[in-house]
Amino acid sequence: MKYVDIVNGPQHVSAIIQGCMRMPALDKEGAARVIRTAFDCGVNFFDHATCYGAGEAEVRFSEAFGLTGLRREDVLLQSKCGIYPDRQEFDWTKDAILTSVDEILQRLQTDYLDTLLLHRPDILFDPEEVAEAFDALEQAGKVRWFGVSNLMPMQLELLKKYVKQPLVINQVQLSLEQSQLIDQALYMNNKTTELSLNRDGSVLDYCRLHDITIQAWSPLQIGMFGGTFIDNPDYPELNKALGEIAEREGVTKAAVAVAWILRHPAKMQAIAGTMNPVHIQELCAAADVNLTHHDWYALYLASGKFLP
Ligand SMILES: NC(=O)c1ccc[n+]([C@@H]2O[C@H](COP(=O)([O-])OP(=O)(O)OC[C@H]3O[C@@H](n4cnc5c(N)ncnc54)[C@H](OP(=O)(O)O)[C@@H]3O)[C@@H](O)[C@H]2O)c1
Repeated sequence: MKYVDIVNGPQHVSAIIQGCMRMPALDKEGAARVIRTAFDCGVNFFDHATCYGAGEAEVRFSEAFGLTGLRREDVLLQSKCGIYPDRQEFDWTKDAILTSVDEILQRLQTDYLDTLLLHRPDILFDPEEVAEAFDALEQAGKVRWFGVSNLMPMQLELLKKYVKQPLVINQVQLSLEQSQLIDQALYMNNKTTELSLNRDGSVLDYCRLHDITIQAWSPLQIGMFGGTFIDNPDYPELNKALGEIAEREGVTKAAVAVAWILRHPAKMQAIAGTMNPVHIQELCAAADVNLTHHDWYALYLASGKFLP
């Protein structure tokens, strides 16, 4: 496993995070196998959110954790709040944040979160209220470090004007198939392709400039929940390129797709969502694959892009 030191945040965190969004599909023995397998492969960081299975992912995790033989301090637990699917709104009011964290801690059966992220921007957010909530959580020892997810640079700037704690993480989507985080920089000012559209305010460069670690979610997915491109006949060139490097490196195509994210010099973490212990072991091999400069471009081009 490769480890990342998050600036102003937790140190020695695994480059591959185990995402727990799909954990509600498992029973507690199955969930324990996922946690233990990931940990034995070097993963020490687990990602949750209040909306994963409407809290069921966090409950399953804590029920399972007791079966793994691991101690709380062996792992870093992250959760996210702010999305309310039942109410069809995003909510970053102070009460909502504080209540969410209490509920998360209860479901995870822990006294503290290592990191709390605000999940998606509440357009009505008041940064002063967020600051009050973060102060209260920090003072109560309920959250050690703070961050965000799916946030643009100017929203981060607005938050940073009031929030005292450093915002150390921005969790955003990135995969070979959903590479818009990277595309816009390559095609800048090019009217002939939609790849040049700046869809996120250059958040990748912003995060690098401000020492905010990017966590890449859904590294294997088509669109948001479109299934994986691995071995998908709709992606023949990509699978051919992944397959050639996989064979050379003695790993799977999925591991190469994750290694493509880890090869970026921003020192990102990749959040894998598989609930299959064999897939977890295969994916963790990604951390030991050193893709060349040429490999990185070859995979990018095989995913359907071109050089301008
Ligand atoms: N911040 C946000 O807005 C946001 C949004 C979405 C997700 N997330 C986070 O990102 C995590 C990962 O998301 P995700 O589950 O969509 O990610 P993913 O790793 O891209 O996809 C996992 C899915 O791909 C399948 N898969 C098929 N072949 C596979 C292979 N060879 N190796 C590995 N998986 C394979 C898995 O099935 P098997 O289980 O059968 O292997 C699983 O259903 C989530 O758990 C969550 O923590 C964050």
